[in-house]
Order: sequence, then C-alpha cells, then structure tokens
Amino acid sequence: MNKLFISIRWKLVSTYLLLVLLTLFTIDGLINAALTDYMLAEKNNNLLSQGAILADQIAPSLSVSNKKNNKNYIEQTLKSYSININARVLLLNNKGTVISDSYDNYNGADLNYIKAVQNALAGSSSAKLYFFDDVGQTIYACIPVNQAGEIIGALLISASPNDIYERINTILGDFYGLSVLVIAITLVFSFLLTDIFSKPILEITNVVKNVSSGKQIDEITIYSNDELGVLADSTNLMIARLTAIDDVRKQFVSNVSHELRTPITSLKIIAQTMLESPPQEVGIYQEFMADINGELDRLNDIIDTLLNLTNLEQEQSELALSATSLDQLIEQCIKTLKPIAHKKNINIYYHNRADVIVEIDVIRIRQCLINLVGNAVKYNHAGGKVDVYLSNNRENAIIKIKDTGIGIPEKDIPHIFDRFYRVDSARARSTGGSGLGLAIVHQIVALHGGTIELQSKVNTGSEFTMCLPLRRN
Ligand SMILES: Nc1ncnc2c1ncn2[C@@H]1O[C@H](COP(=O)(O)OP(=O)(O)O)[C@@H](O)[C@H]1O
Ligand SMILES: [Mg+2]
Repeated sequence: MNKLFISIRWKLVSTYLLLVLLTLFTIDGLINAALTDYMLAEKNNNLLSQGAILADQIAPSLSVSNKKNNKNYIEQTLKSYSININARVLLLNNKGTVISDSYDNYNGADLNYIKAVQNALAGSSSAKLYFFDDVGQTIYACIPVNQAGEIIGALLISASPNDIYERINTILGDFYGLSVLVIAITLVFSFLLTDIFSKPILEITNVVKNVSSGKQIDEITIYSNDELGVLADSTNLMIARLTAIDDVRKQFVSNVSHELRTPITSLKIIAQTMLESPPQEVGIYQEFMADINGELDRLNDIIDTLLNLTNLEQEQSELALSATSLDQLIEQCIKTLKPIAHKKNINIYYHNRADVIVEIDVIRIRQCLINLVGNAVKYNHAGGKVDVYLSNNRENAIIKIKDTGIGIPEKDIPHIFDRFYRVDSARARSTGGSGLGLAIVHQIVALHGGTIELQSKVNTGSEFTMCLPLRRN
C-alpha cells in the first residue's frame, strides 16, 4: 500500500475527519428533528387561531334562516380563506355533514367518522399531522363553530406540511454548504497539525536508523514533555549507553592486545638475541629457555584469567553453592599468603567477630579473598600491615580487608573494578599482575548477589568491604 496512507499522519487525519463527520451528522439530525417539531407546532397553532377567527366570522350566517344567500356568502368566505392560508377549508353542520367545501367535491359528505370532527362537535379544537396512503402527510385542524353558547357546527381545515419541509431543506442546504467548508478546513488543518506528531517520530526513527547502521550518532533534539519527549529522552539515554558499551569494547580489545604484546615482545627479543649471538654454552641457552618459559607462563596466565572472567560475565558458569564457614575460608587464604607477606615483612591480622556460615561457591570466593588480600600485600609498604575483619548484620556477611599501603587516588576509584585497569601501569607492571583481579572479584561478588566497595587514601591505605547476602532469593 502507498506509504502515505499507512502513515501516522494519515491515520490522524482520518480520525479527525471521522470525528468531524460524526459531529456534523449529529448536528444535522438534531436540527432536522427540532425544526420539524417546532415548525409543525407553529403551523398547527396558526391553523387553529385562523380557524377560530373564521369560525367566529361564519357562525352568524350558519344559524340564520335565509339559507340561500348565506350559502353563497359561506362559500365565498371559505374559498377566499382557503386561498389565503393555502389550505382546504370545510364547514360541517352539527351532525358532521359537509355544508361547504372550498374544493367543492366533498359537499354533502358525512365526515362524522373522523375523530377530530367528533372532538370539535363535542367542543374541543385539535390540530394534528396524519398520514394517508393516497395523499401522504396532511394536517387536520378542527374547530367548533359556536353561536350563543351552542355548538352549531365545525370547521375542518386540511393543510399540507410540505411548505415546512421545503423551508427546513433550505436551512439544511445552507448547513451542508457550511459542512463542506468545515470538512475542507479540518483536512487542511489536521494535515498541518499532525506534523507535530509525525515530525518527532520521523526524527527519532532517523537517528535510530543511523545508530543501527553505524553512522554518526546525533542527539535527538525534541523539546516537549509529552510522551514523545519522553521517548526521545529514553532513546538518547539508550544511544548514550550503547556508545559507552562500544567504547568499553574498543578499550577492552586494545587492552588485551597490549597485555599480550608485552610477553610476546620479550619472547621476540630473547629469540633474536639467541639467533644473532655466536654459539654459546649450553648453560646460557638454558637461561634463555628459562626466560622463555617465564614469559610463556605469563601469557598463559593472562589468557586463563581472561577466559575465567569472560565465562563469569557470560554467566555460563553456574555457581556451585554450599554452606561454608567464612571464618575457616579466611584463615586458609591468610595462611596461603603469609609466606609472600613475610618476604615484605608485612603482618596479616585476622579479627573475627562472628563465625558466619554462608551459601557460596567456595572456589570462587576463595579466589576473591586471595585477590583482595594479595593486593593488600602487593600494594603495601615493606613493614606494613593488613587487617582482615569478619562480621555480619541481619542481611549480610561483611568482610573488610584493610591495608596500610600506597592507597588509590580518588580519580581512579570509580574505574578500579574495570578490566585491565591499573592505577599506574608502569608501577603495576613492575609488581606483575594483569589488572584483571578486581574485575573478577567484582563479577564473582555480583554473581553471589553481593556488593563490594572501596575506601582509599593515597599513602594511608585502602579498605575493601565485601558484603555477601546471608540468604539468597
Ligand atoms: N590494596 C590496594 N592498594 C592500592 N592499590 C590497589 C590495591 N588493590 C588494587 N590496587 C590497584 O588496582 C589495580 C587493579 O588491581 P587488580 O585488578 O587486582 O590488578 P593487578 O593486581 O593484577 O594489577 C592495581 O594495579 C593497583 O593499581
Ligand atoms: Mg591483583
């Protein structure tokens, strides 16, 4: 189908049009009904009052004895009245028999069977619209003729209501003309007005199309606080988020390449040195091989950690949960790290405030603790100390790892859990490590439904607080 006719604009225009048409139809119906009622009532009243005047005028002639002259007079009067009010006028005696008919052909007929005539002869006037198969709609107005307080006959006026319908049709004709004008105006205005709706939708669509086809990304600029404004805002937010994700992805790829390049460059240098130098003793080669082995280990480590993290992020790995004593786990980890700490003359103190049993994946939480306590040792001054606290509140087990180390600058704190992020890469490299440890910690804690937070001050020390929910929902 043609695009124009399925567009929102067209739908809105046709809705407006439908509403206007409906309104016009309703008004048309109302005008027609009200006018017909009103004009019929008016015509009935006119016929009754004119009939009453005629009845008064004619009453003396009907009662007097000089029948011949009177008959002429009556005939003339009825005929001229008939022409005046454009209706048939009949005079009946008090038996309901026609004495005179302005159209002549009912003279002598007995009309007492008509209900209106019976009523008039009983004293009450009436005017009403009737329908007859042969002549269609006809108004019968019937008025008693009184003389000296006695009913001596009746006047029957029969008129067609067609003049009323003609007048109503003229009025409605004007109304139809006006309606066509209103419809035309509605069409033009609604067509222009719907721009207000269709323009922003088109703009949003264009921007979204651009984003999905990877073209340059614009902000949607819609200044309204209706639903379309909200849609534009949310779309902008979504685009911003997509851009951010894309940036992280680029950063990540560049970081991975960088991390892999370092050991590979070392390997390359070692190999070149071996190739270019004259043959050496076996001992020298063994040293080179040891270096190569070390670099390969480092490469392996990086790839392993990376795979580990990717698995965690894809949530491929279900957690192997079991009720575990955090107290024992922490003791074990500290024991593992003591020899390394000892080398730097660092003491690790453990302060247990409760033995907390939590449903956790032991291997993964151990990995977290080793990473955190390991960092506290690694980024500590010689002779410093590390304090580990275990406590709990109603909802969480709380593990704090506090060191007296070099600390983390405030600007780095928001990024510290990012993959490959290191405060000072040169310094970090001299201490080894890939910058993936905290990213893994963060991911594991999140998988457990917990949180990890950091407080740190340069040259004073850092404090990591890890909360693990006691009950999992
Ligand atoms: N306890 C700490 N004190 C000071 N800096 C820390 C501490 N823990 C982590 N960091 C900083 O955060 C960075 C990221 O840590 P991590 O992800 O464990 O990577 P890695 O230890 O492999 O460098 C470290 O390089 C270091 O700069
Ligand atoms: Mg680390």
